[in-house]
Amino acid sequence: MKKILILGIESSCDETSVAIVEKNQKGKVRVLSNITKSQLDVHLKYGGVVPELAARAHSEIIDQIILMALKKAKVKLNQLSAIAATAGPGLLGGLLVGVVSAKTLSSILKIPFIAVNHLEGHALSVLLEQKIDFPYLLLLVSGGHTEFTVVNKFNKYERVGTTLDDAIGEAFDKTARILRLNYPGGPEIEKYALKGDPYKYKLPQPLIYEKNCHFSFSGLKSAVAQVASKNKINSQFKKDMAASFQKTIAEILKLKTKSAIKLFKAKHKNSFANIIVAGGVAANQYLRKELLNIENEYHCQFYFPSIKLCTDNGAMIAYAGLVRYEKNLVNKLNFKPKPRWPLDKNATFLKGKRIVNE
Ligand code: KG4
Ligand code: ZN
Repeated sequence: MKKILILGIESSCDETSVAIVEKNQKGKVRVLSNITKSQLDVHLKYGGVVPELAARAHSEIIDQIILMALKKAKVKLNQLSAIAATAGPGLLGGLLVGVVSAKTLSSILKIPFIAVNHLEGHALSVLLEQKIDFPYLLLLVSGGHTEFTVVNKFNKYERVGTTLDDAIGEAFDKTARILRLNYPGGPEIEKYALKGDPYKYKLPQPLIYEKNCHFSFSGLKSAVAQVASKNKINSQFKKDMAASFQKTIAEILKLKTKSAIKLFKAKHKNSFANIIVAGGVAANQYLRKELLNIENEYHCQFYFPSIKLCTDNGAMIAYAGLVRYEKNLVNKLNFKPKPRWPLDKNATFLKGKRIVNE
């Protein structure tokens, strides 16, 4: 077996990240480097990501991050087997920076270019660290996406649930903004919640009585805003609301995950389900613990990537690129980035739809 070295670029949102992943002659996969520069400082004062500023910040630093990743991995450009880059979904300006850099390297080095779907990167990320057999259920919880997808095998994705409005990370970020906490809101809410009373405020749990696996989070955020408008946003309020919000999210996630497990088992005539939880929100320790609580009753096992592989990173893109490279799923240089690019191409666009007992 020949050694494979893939350079992966991630620039779909507010992290510029480049990694080198190796598969050695014995078939062992290792992350040799994974360098991430967050744009937190650029977007902090706006309370969210500003697309034009994000694109500029990626373009200013991408070449340096590529060089740093090569140096840390002790790999020379001419040793690389292929270049992978996130080509969607995400913010077009950022995607263009990553994709154009990858295409340039690919054409100079005369090695394949691989366009990676960001969601596939998240879906496979945990496989860099743990062996899990297909099929599995993916619960993807990030700043831009919230979905249940059955991963039947590599490249065969079937979405069985999605959010009808806000993504779960977006709900964390918007709630944090209402509470005058910093961006990104997820880690802030988690920190404040540690010292708050999760039973202090009763918040709505949208769609929990519907027997489908879909989510809705926009009403929850509005409820937080309503309570906040009647209270002084002092330290105690922030802590109690953060704890109440996080608990509500956990309840919704558990309920919907139970439905998704049933559906998964019925589809695969299995009595056991492996569930991979991926994306930035999967970094939340409280949510992890709460999900683990249903393992015994629901005969399933949860897998979480390590924290550095939960939020956006080049390693998951390089790894998805590696799997694609081995299957000869490479792309032409005229491949255009896709700001919208569902993993399951047959999935219908449900944002803004009202679904009753689907
Ligand atoms: O996967 P990711 O890095 O980017 C997207 O693809 O969207 O996810 C970013 C999201 C943000 O909304 C952020 O607030 C959330 O993940 N997040 C968290 C935590 N860490 C990051 N949410 C809850 N708890 C956390 N510890
Ligand atoms: Zn992501």
